[in-house]
Amino acid sequence: MKGIILAAGKGTRLYPSTLVTSKLLLPVYDKPLLYYPLSTLMQANIREIMLITSPMDQEQYKALLGDGSSFGIDLSYEIQPSPKGIAEAFIIGRDFIGDDSCCLILGDNIFYGETLVSKLEKAQHNGAGATIFGYPVKDPKRFGIVEIDASGKAISLEEKPLHPKSNLCVTGLYFYDKKVCGYAESLTPSKRGELEITDINKLYLDAGQLSVNILDESCSWFDAGTADSMLEASVFVQKLEKNTGKLFGVPEAIAYEKGWIDRAILLRRAQEQQSSNYGKYLKDSAD
Ligand code: DAU
Repeated sequence: MKGIILAAGKGTRLYPSTLVTSKLLLPVYDKPLLYYPLSTLMQANIREIMLITSPMDQEQYKALLGDGSSFGIDLSYEIQPSPKGIAEAFIIGRDFIGDDSCCLILGDNIFYGETLVSKLEKAQHNGAGATIFGYPVKDPKRFGIVEIDASGKAISLEEKPLHPKSNLCVTGLYFYDKKVCGYAESLTPSKRGELEITDINKLYLDAGQLSVNILDESCSWFDAGTADSMLEASVFVQKLEKNTGKLFGVPEAIAYEKGWIDRAILLRRAQEQQSSNYGKYLKDSAD
């Protein structure tokens, strides 16, 4: 399975903080926002990952992450010239995905939960079709919304509905089989001029191949797209790390635990960042 992180938005809701840098390079508590979605893909055992960025930001991302070898992954980069819709990721990533299945994560989405890894594994082995993850929200008009029946089956999907049929938001983590690129090619732009991810999900729904996995109370989800939600996410990560004594969203530690990098690489990373808590955590993980 291939992984795509979509990180090509302009981050206009965070101006002036994002006038000269990308939103995903801003910190959520003690590390760049990008580390969290990257960690989620790695937790799902996805090692071939493409990062789609705006033309302006690509060099900064390359400077931060390189070819991915420090994280035991194979990282490639593509450009989305302008943000014409989330579903465009599958047109840009068509050659990369090839005949494989694919997981897409939005770069500003943070997922945490004890049951998350098992949910990711289940989605990956779901066979044909698509899996989306629902999360109850207070402000459903802001999101893609899924309506489900009593058995948990999806009935309808709407992007930013004026009259939401449920409060179940479709979060920015999507698992698709190999049909996804063909579906993306078949889309036409919505009224707001975007290739909508919700329209891809609707095609799977119409084909009877859309599974909805609801994130239960043990899980937390943040769409860190505004100053308020970034702060909320930062406070969450700070509390979690203080309570557990463990850092959350550390790609090097995940890679080491999975045996994707050796101790020497982990120690080199720890050494490079030794003045920070993050660097000390890497050193402790190696010891
Ligand atoms: O966060 C979950 C929501 O994400 C879903 O519920 C919605 O169905 C989905 O459309 C999306 O809604 P947003 O309003 O949050 O989308 P936004 O335009 O803010 O884009 C989300 C991220 O994707 C953001 O980091 C920028 C990036 N992006 C977006 C577009 C449209 C791109 O890199 N390229 C794009 O063309």
